[in-house]
Amino acid sequence: MSGLNVESQVPEAKPGAPNSSDFVWIPAATSIAREAGARLREFFAQGVATEYKGDVDLVTVADRTAEKLIRERLSQAFPEHGIFGEEGTRDRLEGEFRWYVDPLDGTTNFAHGLPQFCISMGLEQRHKGLAPDEDGTLVAAVIYDPLRDELYAAERGRGALLNGRPMRVSSTPELAEALLATGFPSHKRHESPNIHFYQEFCLRSHGVRRAGSAALDLAYVATGRLDGFWEFNLNPWDTAAGILLIEEAGGRVTNFSGGPFRLDSREILASNGLIHAELMGLFADMFAGRNLAPIPTPQEFAARRAARTSKSG
Ligand code: IPD
Ligand code: CA
Ligand code: CA
Repeated sequence: MSGLNVESQVPEAKPGAPNSSDFVWIPAATSIAREAGARLREFFAQGVATEYKGDVDLVTVADRTAEKLIRERLSQAFPEHGIFGEEGTRDRLEGEFRWYVDPLDGTTNFAHGLPQFCISMGLEQRHKGLAPDEDGTLVAAVIYDPLRDELYAAERGRGALLNGRPMRVSSTPELAEALLATGFPSHKRHESPNIHFYQEFCLRSHGVRRAGSAALDLAYVATGRLDGFWEFNLNPWDTAAGILLIEEAGGRVTNFSGGPFRLDSREILASNGLIHAELMGLFADMFAGRNLAPIPTPQEFAARRAARTSKSG
C-alpha cells in the first residue's frame, strides 16, 4: 500500500515569501481583532449614540466596548505584555512588549453610519535600557476591517499578508500618477495647516482621498490601493500597526523631511518608496514657500461668477 506523503503536498515556500505559520503573535492577535470586529459590526448595524471627548472628537459605546474586549483578550493571551489604548488603557507599560490599540479607527464615520473604519493593533518590543521617550521596534501588526472582512497582518522580518495572501506596496513610479490620502485632526482643527498641503498634492497627483480612518489608509498603502499618505498629529495607536505593514510590504515611512518616524512624532509620511523623494521634495518646497499654486479666493471666484452671470443673463 502506498503511504500518503504529506510532506510532498505542502507547497514549497518561495524564498522570502511570508509564511503565516512562522508568525508568533499574529494568530492570537488576529482572533482578538476578529472578535472585536464582530462586536463593532453589531453596534454599527444597530446604530450608536455619539458623545464628545472634546471639540469634535467623538466617542461611542462601541469604542469603549471594543477596547475593553481587546484589553481582556490580550491580557489572557499575553499576560506580560503592556497595553496602551486610545480609550484610556495603560497596563504594564514597564514591560518588554507593548500593544498600541485603536479599538475603532474612524469613529466619526462609524457614528454617521459611513462604512469605513477598522481595528488597529501594533506590537512594540522595548529592549531593556530604553529611555521612556525612545522607540523600541515594531514587531507585529494587525488591522481588521470588519465590514469588508479584510485582515491585514505582519510580523517584522516575516512579511505582510492580506487575508492570508502576501501583499506588496504599489509600483507607481511617480507622484503625477499617484493616488494619495490624508486626514485632518478633530482636535484644535483651526490650527491645522493641512488644507494647503491637500491642495498642492491634489494638483500634482491623481488625487487625494480623505476617507476618515488613518489606520485603513496606511493598510491601503501597504496593499497598493494607495501610493502615499501623510498626516499631522496622529497618535501611536493610529500608526503603529500601519507602519509595520507598510515596511514589511516594501514601502517606506518617515517624517516629512525623510528622517526616522517616531511613534510620538507629530508627522507621518508613508509611501510605496518609489515616490517618497518627490513627496519629501514637495514638503520642503512648501515649508520654504516655493512653487505654491495660488488658490482663487472665494471673492475672486464670486467676481468671475458675477461676470459670467451678467454676460449670460
Ligand atoms: C481618527 C482617524 C482619522 C484621522 C484622525 C484620527 P479616530 O481616529 O484616524 O482618519 O484623520 O486624525 O484621530 O478618532 O477615529 O480613532
Ligand atoms: Ca484613530
Ligand atoms: Ca479610535
